[in-house]
Amino acid sequence: MEFSIKAGGLEKARSACTVIGVFEPRKLTEAAAALDRVARGYLTGIVNRGDMEGKSGATLLLHSVPDAPHERVLLVGLGRRNEFGEKQYRTAVAAAIKALAATGSPDALMHLTALPVAKRDAAWKVAHAVMVAMEAIYRFDRMKSKPQDETKCALRRLTLVVEKSGLRRAEAGLEQGLATAHGMNLARDLGNLPANVCTPGYLAEQAHQLAKRYRMKIQVLEREDMEKLGMGALLSVARGSTQPPKLIALQYQGADKKVKPVALVGKGITFDTGGISLKPAAEMDEMKFDMCGAASVLGTLKAVGEMRLPFNVVGVIPATENMPGGSATRPGDIVTSMSGQTIEVLNTDAEGRLILCDALTYAERFNPAAVIDIATLTGACVIALGHVATGLFANDDALARELLASGETACDRAWHLPLWDDYQEQLKSNFADFANIGGRPAGSVTAACFLARFTKNHKWAHLDIAGTAWKSGKEKGATGRPVPLLTQFLAGRARRR
Ligand code: BES
Ligand code: MN
Ligand code: ZN
Repeated sequence: MEFSIKAGGLEKARSACTVIGVFEPRKLTEAAAALDRVARGYLTGIVNRGDMEGKSGATLLLHSVPDAPHERVLLVGLGRRNEFGEKQYRTAVAAAIKALAATGSPDALMHLTALPVAKRDAAWKVAHAVMVAMEAIYRFDRMKSKPQDETKCALRRLTLVVEKSGLRRAEAGLEQGLATAHGMNLARDLGNLPANVCTPGYLAEQAHQLAKRYRMKIQVLEREDMEKLGMGALLSVARGSTQPPKLIALQYQGADKKVKPVALVGKGITFDTGGISLKPAAEMDEMKFDMCGAASVLGTLKAVGEMRLPFNVVGVIPATENMPGGSATRPGDIVTSMSGQTIEVLNTDAEGRLILCDALTYAERFNPAAVIDIATLTGACVIALGHVATGLFANDDALARELLASGETACDRAWHLPLWDDYQEQLKSNFADFANIGGRPAGSVTAACFLARFTKNHKWAHLDIAGTAWKSGKEKGATGRPVPLLTQFLAGRARRR
């Protein structure tokens, strides 16, 4: 879809469909009132008859509105004016796009972007309109044998209306919103692909394509390289699989070499059976999503590359399957990580932390200003926070606050959980330096505590996206989170440099 921005004075502009808001109860917005004057009260009539109360997310499509320069007029409910905020704004845009997609309109003129949203400027409104629209029209039909006609959408061009004073900021918002949406789409596609297609080698191939397109440096470590580096933890997870593991490092340099990069480390388990500690059969298919951390790193790097962000970023992705098999790691096996610390693998299903710990040690060689890992790490995080917030842990409070604020702005929120040393006791092992699990209580915290033992030399944060990276049920599929949070974070760092 193509997006463009226009400012004010659009009474004469023509379109296949114009999109205007109605507040509850039955109150036309400015843009709607302007059109109503042209149409000599036609809209007022409709609203007064009770066909559009203005409830948040409701839509009403009108054809042949008298004297209107548009083939169609789409009324969109906004809820009560005094309750209209970020959530209602995004709901209205999403509802509008869904309604538009069901019409034959090739283009539309969207007035919702000119509505005031408390504390948010034109850049924010445009960026979110673009992200919400792209999210609403996203389809994954690559694995279907025939194109899906029912979900085809004629909408090609969307013009976003903003107030004149916000024109320049709106252009910036359009750039960031579109780059973020493209990054999310990549992350969603990779997440949605089945594990027999999206293997560690496939992820490496995708990284190569990004490197080529956006001029990034890339290294892919093979099994032998990992052996030389002593990545015993990562290798112990790969043992049961016939797919060769990969460790991908992508370097984006948009600022001077001297500027320390932010390192993003993404869990890339392309399928998690649990290994010898095998998972139950029900819903095991969803473990193809266990590489969504890796996908979010690639998606974020795509966004960064597309924006030509004046900043340095490194993406590190340990990628492997977690399979049972004759040479798979057994519960009780003890492995030596790249850091030299030994780990008793009490449960082979706690594999994410095992591949991440070596990747985190490897990331140190890039001398990062901060390291952020992103992982579908624990079922316990889904129990704690559901599918709303990503779990956030950090060894630095300022970094945690910065990430929380980025999540708020991006409408991709995280919640700060504790990483106190008191929890470290749960990882005690009678045989190795520590174990890879800490029992049922506070499962997300002990997983983070495990990672903290490998990140003492750097400012580090951990995002547990087990509840936010994908949806189950009827709308099963990857969400593209937390690409918006990460892109916003990096854009903020680039701006403040
Ligand atoms: N990939 C899973 C975490 C997960 C489970 C994410 C369900 C989303 C939904 C991870 O590798 C895992 O299996 N974690 C175990 C850890 C346990 C063995 C300590 C878990 O959460 O059960
Ligand atoms: Mn697991
Ligand atoms: Zn896993």
